[in-house]
Amino acid sequence: MQAGLNIPATTIAIDGPAASGKSTLADLLARRLGYLYFDTGVMYRAVTWAALTRNVPLEDEAAVTRLAAELHIEVLPPTVEDGRRYTVLADGVDVTWAIRSPEVDASVSRVAAYPGVRSAMVPQQRRIAARGSVIMVGRDIGTVVLPDADVKLYLDATVEERARRRWLEMRAQGREADYEPVLASMRQRDEMDSHRDVSPLCAAHDAIILDTTGKSVEEVLAEAERLIRHALAAKGKPCPSG
Ligand code: CDP
Repeated sequence: MQAGLNIPATTIAIDGPAASGKSTLADLLARRLGYLYFDTGVMYRAVTWAALTRNVPLEDEAAVTRLAAELHIEVLPPTVEDGRRYTVLADGVDVTWAIRSPEVDASVSRVAAYPGVRSAMVPQQRRIAARGSVIMVGRDIGTVVLPDADVKLYLDATVEERARRRWLEMRAQGREADYEPVLASMRQRDEMDSHRDVSPLCAAHDAIILDTTGKSVEEVLAEAERLIRHALAAKGKPCPSG
């Protein structure tokens, strides 16, 4: 429950594979609905970044797990106006852009598959959600982190379209990138995320699946907002204005 209000915490879970449009959608939805947007991927990325920069061998599960338990990760509103949606600090260091490097992309799914890493992250995610009015984005939000979320969306798109989006995003940021390696890295991440033993990527049985292939951001936003308002109204939950 939200402190001082007799309104149960409202939570919206958005899951899906890499570059399916989750972050863009969640950011826009959060602005429209006045919700907090929280991207859980940044936590796994911050642990991966810390392991890479501190020379912790990624195959050393115990050492990576220890690092995840000790690392202090903070997600704050943007502290610099450089196009970021939020600021991520890892032990006080601004890693907002560093966690988007190809090196982190290539290793994050391995780190995220370690059960000890997940059990260090999930309670922190639940604490944030308990504040209410949160849109939480990830791979296992509707299935594991918030199985009682009020609305669950699962975004998907073909791997070619997702790789194209990521490639365009990288080029827009002025980063050198060829399409083929981006596609290969995405296929590899899909494979690892979907087949790991703990909390694999999959749609919750009660999730609404939205295929974003060939759809504009505005189309997906309008459809998601309609679905959310409908689902909240059906539950008798207050619908945000806007
Ligand atoms: O932005 P993108 O979709 O490329 O990735 P992300 O959401 O930042 O997540 C990066 C990686 O973290 C994923 O490929 C997963 O391996 C892992 N992850 C996870 O296991 N569980 C989550 N709730 C979020 C991310």
